[in-house]
Amino acid sequence: MRDAVLILDFGSQYTQLIARRIRELKVYSEIHPFHLSLERITEMKPKAIVLSGGPSSCYDVGAPTVDAKLFSLGVPILGICYGVQLTAKLLGGQVSPSPQREYGLAHVRLGNLRSPLLHGFDAGEEITAWMSHGDRIDKLPPGFSLLGETAHAPCVIADQRRRIYGVQFHPEVVHTPRGGELIANFVFRIAGVTPNWTMTSFAQEAIERVRAQTGKSGRVICGLSGGVDSSVAAKLIFDAIGDRLTCIFVDNGLLRQGERGKVETLFSGAFGADLHVVDAASRFLQKLAGVTNPEDKRKIIGREFIAVFDDEAHEIGGAEFLAQGTLYPDVIESVSVRGPSATIKSHHNVGGLPEKMKLKLVEPLRELFKDEVRELGAELGLPHDVLWRQPFPGPGLAVRILGEVTRERCDLLRAADAIIDEEIRAAGLYASIWQSFGVLLPVKSVGVMGDERTYADALCVRAVHSKDGMTADWVPLPYDLLGVISRRVINEVRGINRVVYDITSKPPGTIEWE
Ligand code: XMP
Repeated sequence: MRDAVLILDFGSQYTQLIARRIRELKVYSEIHPFHLSLERITEMKPKAIVLSGGPSSCYDVGAPTVDAKLFSLGVPILGICYGVQLTAKLLGGQVSPSPQREYGLAHVRLGNLRSPLLHGFDAGEEITAWMSHGDRIDKLPPGFSLLGETAHAPCVIADQRRRIYGVQFHPEVVHTPRGGELIANFVFRIAGVTPNWTMTSFAQEAIERVRAQTGKSGRVICGLSGGVDSSVAAKLIFDAIGDRLTCIFVDNGLLRQGERGKVETLFSGAFGADLHVVDAASRFLQKLAGVTNPEDKRKIIGREFIAVFDDEAHEIGGAEFLAQGTLYPDVIESVSVRGPSATIKSHHNVGGLPEKMKLKLVEPLRELFKDEVRELGAELGLPHDVLWRQPFPGPGLAVRILGEVTRERCDLLRAADAIIDEEIRAAGLYASIWQSFGVLLPVKSVGVMGDERTYADALCVRAVHSKDGMTADWVPLPYDLLGVISRRVINEVRGINRVVYDITSKPPGTIEWE
């Protein structure tokens, strides 16, 4: 049995970071909504519990709370931000609106009291911490002592006998440089957790789970996209059940240059997996003929993908299970405090397939964050190139060809995009850029080549830095590099006579043009 840390989520934007910081210590951690029942918590037998931050004030009407019996389970608890205020309130302390609200960087002076939480820190030391709170603890609950404070508020508190701790700042963010040490002290020195969550052990367990789920004869089909998640899921399942896995790769005609070949070389070539490549370009392009509206394009491609995949699966026959590369962030039941966000673009992945196909799902990556999936992929022997590919949208080049998508325009963009890719890699920038690609504009302009007048298409180059695709900055690519890209595209790709560079961040722009 692996040791686990349970994180109860009160709606903080940083809750996932807490889980990741703990997992980086090779300790398994799981996020659940704050209202998880005491019975469930007891069944899970966590070695430690973290109460996350959250946007509420613990005196708000209907503010999220926990059963105070949680503090009597004998499991060590660390409250963070809202979590510590709630702890203080429930255990008989006093919390009230602070006259000095603290947001951003703050200095926390540690006291003289010794505590395992502060192992490695000096008495009286001052640490930098990231704060975001409007309330403060005025009176500590009985049994608690003060281990650190800012000029305005108590900041680190503890009931060492009951092993209940709290910090008013966010130790999980990078802006609290020594926050990781505090978390490690809590997990190891206070809760005595064994660090046994490694990708080697995970891979073995996950392979066993797939074997157990699919039994002796169950067949699994898996859609490969060439992306990280589906590649890792497929390889793991392949390692578990070998030729009882069938992979399907749909060539929708909207792929980047060489994509299909790479998947074939790796999966049917190197691994010897059963791979069915469906050449469906004509089907997709027929459906896209005459369509220019971005949402219509996305919906058509999503629907067509499901139809093609379903047809192929029927042809293969006998499948009982469908593999999906679902990741942990998709699974966490989020505590919504601001309501669902508006749909800007309807994303197409393989959503909709399970309903249509009525197959049981195999989701071997459900417990993992993206960076862990890469680690697992490396463990399973997937090449670096596959694991560190820039993201590529499900609807492919269709959302990078403005206006109608035709075979000719796909070929044009593919050729230009391949040059951008090659030059970005040659400049050593590929790994540091979130995405770099070309967009074919619905614009023709006049040019001159040799002595000839040209009237041809314009290509836009887009490159952005981002951490998660939610926000992005345009990359200040070196002028020399832009020059090389422009020259090569215009010389080598017949049909494009002008290259421009997109300098829009997100927001207000989106990364893809459609
Ligand atoms: P936007 O254009 O909304 O894109 O700023 C944010 C990130 O999502 C990618 N993207 C998609 N990924 N299916 C995907 O799997 C999609 O339909 C899709 N649309 C956009 C985009 O490339 C960027 O990384």
